[in-house]
Amino acid sequence: MPSNVPGVLVAFAAFLIPFGSWSNTQSRPQIELSSDATSPSCPQVELLLPSIHSTLYAGLNDLYKTEGFTTDVHEKLGAAIRVPTESYDDMKPVGQDPRWNIFGDFQHFLEVFFPEIYSSLRVTRVNTYGLVYHWQGTQTALKPVLLAAHQDVVPVDPDTVNQWTHPPYSGHYDGTWVWGRGAADDKSDLIAQLITIDSLLKHGFQPRRTIVLAFGIDEESAGTEGAGKIAVYLEKTYGRDGFAFLLDEGDGYGENVPNGLIFASPGISEKGYFDVKIEVSAPGGHSSVPPRHTTIGILSRILVALEGTLHDTSFSRSGTAFANAQCAVAHGPNSSPSLRRLARKALTDDVALEELKNYLLQTDPVFDVMLRTTQAVNIVYGGVKANALPEVATAIINHRIAEHSSVIEVQDHLVHIISAVAAGFNMSLHAFGRPPVHCAGEKSQIVLTDAFGTGLEPSPVTPIESGGPYDLLGGTIKASLKTSGRFNSTGVVISPSLGLDTRFYWNLTRHIFRYSHYGDRDDYYNGLHTVNEAVRGEAVVEQVRFFTMLILNSDETALFA
Ligand SMILES: *[C@@H]1O[C@H](CO)[C@@H](O)[C@H](O)[C@H]1NC(C)=O
Ligand SMILES: *[C@@H]1O[C@H](CO)[C@@H](O)[C@H](O)[C@H]1NC(C)=O
Ligand SMILES: *[C@@H]1O[C@H](CO)[C@@H](O)[C@H](O)[C@H]1NC(C)=O
Repeated sequence: MPSNVPGVLVAFAAFLIPFGSWSNTQSRPQIELSSDATSPSCPQVELLLPSIHSTLYAGLNDLYKTEGFTTDVHEKLGAAIRVPTESYDDMKPVGQDPRWNIFGDFQHFLEVFFPEIYSSLRVTRVNTYGLVYHWQGTQTALKPVLLAAHQDVVPVDPDTVNQWTHPPYSGHYDGTWVWGRGAADDKSDLIAQLITIDSLLKHGFQPRRTIVLAFGIDEESAGTEGAGKIAVYLEKTYGRDGFAFLLDEGDGYGENVPNGLIFASPGISEKGYFDVKIEVSAPGGHSSVPPRHTTIGILSRILVALEGTLHDTSFSRSGTAFANAQCAVAHGPNSSPSLRRLARKALTDDVALEELKNYLLQTDPVFDVMLRTTQAVNIVYGGVKANALPEVATAIINHRIAEHSSVIEVQDHLVHIISAVAAGFNMSLHAFGRPPVHCAGEKSQIVLTDAFGTGLEPSPVTPIESGGPYDLLGGTIKASLKTSGRFNSTGVVISPSLGLDTRFYWNLTRHIFRYSHYGDRDDYYNGLHTVNEAVRGEAVVEQVRFFTMLILNSDETALFA
């Protein structure tokens, strides 16, 4: 996960599916989904098991249950964790910063642990440490599948090392958990993908559909040295829209739903991103004869005005939030029959759509975040001395741009609100390189810029119409969960949600999924990116089973040529 993950953008509305104790579902019989499973508002695909490759799959499935195999998975993940591939925000490009050298050690580790992969697949090093594995399929008419993960981890704060139950780079397996930085984010995805390929190779699988793995090196910082460069290579090699689909890390599934359902939540889109710097400048001077408002006072007025005006919400039937809400209402344990009726009516009726939107906004803050561009004033500075007027006061506002909006729309919103303040103080406003508003002289001005040049539009939305890659993924998730023997679930619901950070790969396919196949009891965090990162050992084996099914299922379908 990138370091700017908004933790609230989770699978579904908390109010509809309060997290409860798992234990009260223990005596539930294994039954299929209720009639709601066929709800037109949240269509559900059937579970999808490999059929052409059923014998191969059965053999691997047996292997994956053996102690020898699970031990090997835990050992390989532990060994991967023991190479501390930390990435830092202030990293210079590869070749100019010795802190990248550790990625050479990691490559060496991979070559030693996966010799069959290195002798059978084409391995390309992009920008020295970025890794792309190519397993050629026999049918070149089928678009390849792309699985992504990242090699780097968030640095461990040296002051917190003694708070870890097991040292952060121990990779220790205690019989339940594999411990260490990167255990869940994201070395388990990476190792599970490689073990899957390794197992398929050793069992003589010959893919019809080409399989590509891509592992970046700085997902936790800028991403430009890893995924940024890999994306260019992939687009050059496989073409624009050259892949059937892409699976990258993301949310997994929630098991603790009181009605015994498991909700799996592949991310089908990402919000945009925009850090705006506001600089208010005015002549300085001795504060014995101050103006009525200093730059700090004026900046404060601007911030009050901005916080007083929320960005608009939009609840479009083609949007991610609508699909997510429909699944939460149709299959959530606490939604009343009238709410379900309202949600179904909203499929075609605009009045019902508006009513549903208002209900959701009032009942759950998560929907508010999904439906509108959010703003947060996160940095403010100004002034140097108690008896000197501040010549400049600065604020930085972080925006996460909703699906229906854009960077330009956020700019317009800011200009609209701030120009009124500027006029009131007779100051000029220079916004985002546009012609200045209120030319009141250059000594007193307000300047708006993209603070770090990192503005990003919201992503395209992955199509979820039936019969496409979304169903292939959903059917595979269902098959993995229902055959895992780990759950007494009454059913599995696939519910589309928001994800993060695939921005470099948007040109490669329209079908991008952000999903990691583990449950909310499978990663042991005090909080994301902090001490005591650990992943449940059996969940990593389940990831291998999931990736195996996904690859075999993609290989069997003639879709997405
Ligand atoms: C499922 O339920 C059975 C009995 O109903 C119980 O023995 C078993 O431990 C439960 N499994 C899980 C994973 O909760
Ligand atoms: C606004 O500022 C300009 C330029 O400094 C000045 O000429 C003008 O008189 C000011 N207007 C008011 C209403 O203060
Ligand atoms: C995607 O394609 C567009 C148009 O060719 C290009 O400008 C852009 O840089 C590409 N994006 C990435 C992340 O490669």
